[in-house]
Amino acid sequence: MSYLEVTKDVYKEAALTPDVGLCCTTTPIWQFPGLQIPTIMQEMNYGCGSTVHPRDLVNNPKILYVGVGGGMELLQFSYFSRQKEGVIGIDVVDEMLEASRKNFVLAEKQNDWFKSDFVTLKKGDALNLPVADNSIDVAAQNCLFNIFKMEELKKALEEMYRVLKPNGRLVMSDPTCEQPMNDTLREDERLRALCLSGSIPLEDYVKMLTDVGFGTIEIRARRPYRILDPKHYATEEHIYIESVEVCAIKDPMPEDGPCVFTGKSAIYFGGEDFFDDKKGHVLLQNQPIAICDKTAGALKNINRDDIFISESTFHYDGGGCC
Ligand SMILES: C[S@@+](CC[C@H](N)C(=O)[O-])C[C@H]1O[C@@H](n2cnc3c(N)ncnc32)[C@H](O)[C@@H]1O
Repeated sequence: MSYLEVTKDVYKEAALTPDVGLCCTTTPIWQFPGLQIPTIMQEMNYGCGSTVHPRDLVNNPKILYVGVGGGMELLQFSYFSRQKEGVIGIDVVDEMLEASRKNFVLAEKQNDWFKSDFVTLKKGDALNLPVADNSIDVAAQNCLFNIFKMEELKKALEEMYRVLKPNGRLVMSDPTCEQPMNDTLREDERLRALCLSGSIPLEDYVKMLTDVGFGTIEIRARRPYRILDPKHYATEEHIYIESVEVCAIKDPMPEDGPCVFTGKSAIYFGGEDFFDDKKGHVLLQNQPIAICDKTAGALKNINRDDIFISESTFHYDGGGCC
């Protein structure tokens, strides 16, 4: 059986019998005023971070969510969109679609602002989305794409890129891992399906996104996720896995390469009121400005002793250069 088939089986089981330990969110579940998340949705939270960011959700966006799980994030997205068919949910596993459908009925009973028809559920594959080109403002996936091997990951990202409108956003949460993993772990279909042995280094993950054409990338969060240790897994050393929240924006690719924000800032502390690099970046005296890694490199290269450039925090929160 291929790893994609094993993945479907794993999530069929997880739809029929909620598995609280499967995947493991590293953030507290977002609670918003007036939002009640049914307990079963919380038990079926199979993600590893959050893809719901209020600042992505202005101007009445059309939202697509791939890999629905118990439906919790679709409910959270609906909280902001509050309209019929505002959120499209796609999943390849019938039982998961059915489980989330039931969960939305429960959610409707517990939330007077919510109607089940705010969410349109469709059967479909992340590798071949049943969605029109250039039709989506915000697309999201949580803890699905890390399961894919390189060829499928590229295809899944190309599909997301295709369906997004120009300047649309792909918001994702996935495990990443900086250490090499041996083939036994990599080829273990079940571990891969459980989001434990498919993850790749963050830099490679970002490159996959920029290779597909996304011109702006934001690393919004990076947190500890899991340890694979020799007692429990086929490894001779401890392997540390993190989880990241990343937003890829379908901006045109700049001529000098993508803008990747990893949480760096620049501070000018020279004798003038401001420093202007004549490339669109004006640094006011002693005011931090968020900069992408490309601008950080360019500012470092001019070798001034009155500009401080911070390390990446991997918690970029908007604003700044580019
Ligand atoms: C790890 S779970 C994450 C669920 C949800 N995003 C969450 O955060 O709770 C992966 C989800 O992707 C679905 N899935 C697996 N393979 C898929 C595919 N090829 N296309 C679309 N959905 C898929 C599973 O049925 C499951 O709902």
